[in-house]
Amino acid sequence: MEEQPLKVLGLAGEYGSTSKSGMLVNQALQFASASGAEIVFWDLKNQPLPLVGEEGCWSHPNVAAFQEAVTNADAVLVCSPEYHGTMSGVMKNTFDWMYDKHVGGKAVGLMSTLGGITNANTLNHMRIACRWLHAWPVPEQLAIGHVKEAFDDQGVLIDNGHEGRLSDLVESVLSTARMLRNRS
Ligand SMILES: Cc1cc2nc3c(=O)[nH]c(=O)nc-3n(C[C@H](O)[C@H](O)[C@H](O)COP(=O)(O)O)c2cc1C
Repeated sequence: MEEQPLKVLGLAGEYGSTSKSGMLVNQALQFASASGAEIVFWDLKNQPLPLVGEEGCWSHPNVAAFQEAVTNADAVLVCSPEYHGTMSGVMKNTFDWMYDKHVGGKAVGLMSTLGGITNANTLNHMRIACRWLHAWPVPEQLAIGHVKEAFDDQGVLIDNGHEGRLSDLVESVLSTARMLRNRS
């Protein structure tokens, strides 16, 4: 029987596809699409998520739609900007709307963008959040420092080395997602 294409959801810890994290997630999604995956970018600019705990949040329609999108995905590609040495509040709030029942047992690819020099703080912190969600972040990961100079006018990474690492990360997510889908 022919295998169904993998469904990959892209999440950014900033608003819109023109933010640096939005650009990186979208380039990763393009790699996934070129490998045959069905892709969806959750754009917080169009469908913002309320803060967890604010009035009306538990019955907010965007939350239900978001949780359905995560449930329908086989894998998730995530990119957060680094804010004060960790993931952005927007990214953390997005993680807080996901539970084990939505994302547990699914492959995750982690990326971060930084205004300053590259480090792995945000990646490490998101990896910890994934552990609490019982998700499976792959070992490959990518942090892009000095991000203001990292993309060309089309929103594509300028450095071939970065692009190669992004491609490896996406391939690892896809092969892990296939393995996890076919287990048992
Ligand atoms: C509140 C705030 C805190 C930030 N903290 C850091 C930081 O700790 N380290 C760093 O390298 N860049 C920091 N930055 C820069 C962001 O990482 C950078 O703006 C982001 O990766 C994405 O770029 P964009 O805002 O142009 O989309 C910070 C930016 C803001 C707004």
